[in-house]
Amino acid sequence: MTDGAASTGRARVFSGMQPSGAVHLGNLLGALTGWVTLQKDADCVYSIVDLHAITAPDDHDPALLRQRTLDLAAALLGVGVDPSRSTLFVQSHVREHAELAWLFNCVATFGELGRMPQFKDKSAGRDASVSVGLFDYPVLQTADILLYHATKVPVGEDQRHHIELARDIGQRFNHRFGEVFTLPTAILPPVAARVMDLQEPTRKMSKSASSEKGVVFVLDEPDAIAAKFRSAVTDSDGKVRVDRAAKPGVTNLLEILAATTSRTVEQAADEHAGSGYGALKTAVAEAVIPFLEPMRARSLELAADQAELERILADGAARAREVAAPTLERARLAMGLLPPA
Ligand code: TYM
Repeated sequence: MTDGAASTGRARVFSGMQPSGAVHLGNLLGALTGWVTLQKDADCVYSIVDLHAITAPDDHDPALLRQRTLDLAAALLGVGVDPSRSTLFVQSHVREHAELAWLFNCVATFGELGRMPQFKDKSAGRDASVSVGLFDYPVLQTADILLYHATKVPVGEDQRHHIELARDIGQRFNHRFGEVFTLPTAILPPVAARVMDLQEPTRKMSKSASSEKGVVFVLDEPDAIAAKFRSAVTDSDGKVRVDRAAKPGVTNLLEILAATTSRTVEQAADEHAGSGYGALKTAVAEAVIPFLEPMRARSLELAADQAELERILADGAARAREVAAPTLERARLAMGLLPPA
């Protein structure tokens, strides 16, 4: 892999996902569909961000983390990340991420990190007991992106603030120490940038939901998917139409239907305008099940070959390092750190 986008004429893309649980429909429609599509025209670097996953100490089980890291590799390949075109690696295998995060720690401010909405959510009511890592999480994310000179970062809506912060930190660094970093832009999907929980449609679908009933996983069996959509929470108005504020459940179903059938949400709503909610739920399940089935089959097949997964990840880390190491070196020099003799 060559240094930056300029030398290949192709845009550089970076994105990451935490190995903190099974991949769900929110991850898939919010981010992974973009990861897969962008591979056609861009030079893509995708990371399993295990150093981010350990910022939530309550949930830190070392054996489970190792397993989830491999499972996520299988899932990413299963949904269509192609290691012959893109670089797929585990974040902690490329030490430059942690080191650049330290340099950025000395550029980012306490105030801007304290204002990050995700930190506020995750630390609410337990300020003193959350890890410093959780507070610092967006700085490590900034290092992830800026190490590779990425211009495009495909993510779901919840990551928008983190990408803006990465721009701010990169810009501040360049201003103080000279042009080292390229400033990234978030790429959000046109529909389903924020997939909601089927049981609690005012909350986003999440790996850490209190119940799995509202979360559709890529590895769910077809019957389980149908049952989850059948019991999706809607409203008592009875009309199929888009209104995120007043009708979050129905709007979420329409967005999922649109995203899995390559239509706009308005088209999906028009087609179901006269239907009851039962028929809408059936239509969504019938769209989602065949959409996920090939991904599920490929993920399970790949998960069974650990040696092959490890080979792909080792190759990815070596390719990632080729870009990350010189970028870090430039940042160190720009800041005035004495090169080792
Ligand atoms: P993570 O692991 O929580 O989620 C991975 C991706 O899935 C998207 N996503 C959703 N999109 C739509 N609806 C939802 N309900 C939903 N839930 C999750 C997220 O927006 C994300 O794109 N901080 C990142 C990981 C990260 C990263 C990076 C991303 C670390 N370094 C550098 C981009 C670039 C995160 O927690 O993702």
